[in-house]
Amino acid sequence: MVQLQGKVAIVTGGAKGIGEAITTALAKEGVKVVINYNSSQDAAQALVNKLVSEGCEAYAVQADVSKLEEARTLIDEAVKRFGQVDIVINNAGITRDRTFKKLSREDWDRVIDVNLSSLYNTTSAVLPYITESEAGRIINISSIIGQSGGFGQTNYAAAKAGMVGFTKSLALELARTNVTVNAICPGFIDTEMVAEVPEAVREQIVAKIPKKRFGAPEEIAKGVLYLCRDGAYVTGQQLNINGGLYM
Ligand code: NAI
Repeated sequence: MVQLQGKVAIVTGGAKGIGEAITTALAKEGVKVVINYNSSQDAAQALVNKLVSEGCEAYAVQADVSKLEEARTLIDEAVKRFGQVDIVINNAGITRDRTFKKLSREDWDRVIDVNLSSLYNTTSAVLPYITESEAGRIINISSIIGQSGGFGQTNYAAAKAGMVGFTKSLALELARTNVTVNAICPGFIDTEMVAEVPEAVREQIVAKIPKKRFGAPEEIAKGVLYLCRDGAYVTGQQLNINGGLYM
């Protein structure tokens, strides 16, 4: 079991939803957390204030992780502040759902850039630091949609499936180091992203979930804690946390 106290983690899109739950869970374990945000400055600062008032170490950094230079700045800021990086949670994500006939090239590119190309950006910048860690962890928040497909989600499904291929390949390349690379594939989790879905559709989704409810962001955070603490021999995997919706 890895002692998480004193480790340093970066959570992209870490101020809200699943990212907030992951940031909070890590901080409560004594991890120094760098909360990345793009536009949610108020939420990021409020979370920093809350965690610091509870005795945790937290710091917010603005960066659009779909841009290589900004991702580099994020990693540099984390190293400047805390001296090392042990854990990267690639959580930032967006949807721009349209049936393929109506999908513009711009909506394709933006979803691929934020969800998938951001992995190139953060990983390339962090590798020199994370490979120095005695227990490096790269965890990519993919999605059940990358496994099953989703109506109106060709862009998102392609990006999320791409994250899994990236995860497995990087896991192979880093297997001789102390860095493990894994993906978590959440099912439907009750955050702003799912709140945007019309109520009638939400009811239809819940009816199909064997567990008959949406997941909570904290249930994804528990998967992250498992991989960080007990996952030294777990690499290249997809951890499905989805209430049994996809097996
Ligand atoms: P959310 O919309 O609440 O959080 C996404 C976060 O990413 C936000 O804080 C947003 O500001 C940030 N972000 C967006 N673009 C960014 C950029 N360019 N640079 C930096 N940060 C950026 O969504 P939620 O639900 O918390 O999703 C978190 C992750 O989990 C996403 O990758 C999403 O695709 C994935 N996911 C969510 C599911 C759900 O049911 N909520 C299901 C499966 C996967």
